[in-house]
Amino acid sequence: MASAFSHTLVDRLAQAESVAVLTGAGISAESGIPTFRDPGGLWQKFRPEELANVEAFLANPVLVQGWYQHRQQVALEKAPNAGHDALVAMETLVAHFTLITQNVDNLHQRAGSQNVVELHGNIMRSYCVECGRFASEAALRPASQEITAQCANCAGLLRPDVVWFGEWLPPDALEAAEKAAQQADVFLSIGTSAVVYPAAGLPQVAKKAGAYVAEINIAPSAIAASMHEVVQGKSGEILPILIEAVRRKKINGAL
Ligand code: OAD
Repeated sequence: MASAFSHTLVDRLAQAESVAVLTGAGISAESGIPTFRDPGGLWQKFRPEELANVEAFLANPVLVQGWYQHRQQVALEKAPNAGHDALVAMETLVAHFTLITQNVDNLHQRAGSQNVVELHGNIMRSYCVECGRFASEAALRPASQEITAQCANCAGLLRPDVVWFGEWLPPDALEAAEKAAQQADVFLSIGTSAVVYPAAGLPQVAKKAGAYVAEINIAPSAIAASMHEVVQGKSGEILPILIEAVRRKKINGAL
């Protein structure tokens, strides 16, 4: 059942100098990209320990490269949805706006969001594990299913530029995300189960620093109880209405 957002949330967003948004796989669900933990999600079909860590990659690079190549292809075939678009519009309404995403699908960037912090990397990039050089988008695709994708420079193995289990988040991205959370007047957590840290800790960082924190999700996340407000429903349906209400409030002071 969908629930409405409050006048407080609209007012806070309309008055905010600084807004930070954290997104997870749920915001891309309406584009047709599977989430990780929902029924039918990626981690129910594939085991993270077999695919999303460096040991698995080194043990079976063809398998891991192939899985990421498949996910890259799925993401390329899908389009940003109304939720992504609404966040593009929100960025134009707020002086300081930071979109922190755990998603690697590149859909926020394709929608047109500008200030995007990629906490978990981006599946469209890959780099060489030997020389560190970045490769083209198509490079993860080997010539055949049996052959590993290699660096054009040194023939080292290419890996997707995503954060795997047991790896650190990119330090610059984490620092930018924490700073945005600390400075935010409003912090929105959208379409994330909020079980993977440090991303899941960001709303709390924002709340401690004085932000109004709200969640938009089809089901309460692991941290819903700590939110000032929980809006239940699809981000692609709620966000356009929310942003339009904020826009009208800013223009003529009316809801
Ligand atoms: P999850 O699959 O854990 O959670 C998806 C969330 O989206 C759930 O809370 C759903 O209820 C919600 N959801 C689904 N459809 C929605 C919709 N239309 N509108 C709003 N909410 C919706 O995905 P993440 O929280 O993103 O990390 O997972 C976090 C990290 O775990 C990922 O970045 C990935 C994974 O392991 C790495 O790969 C490093």
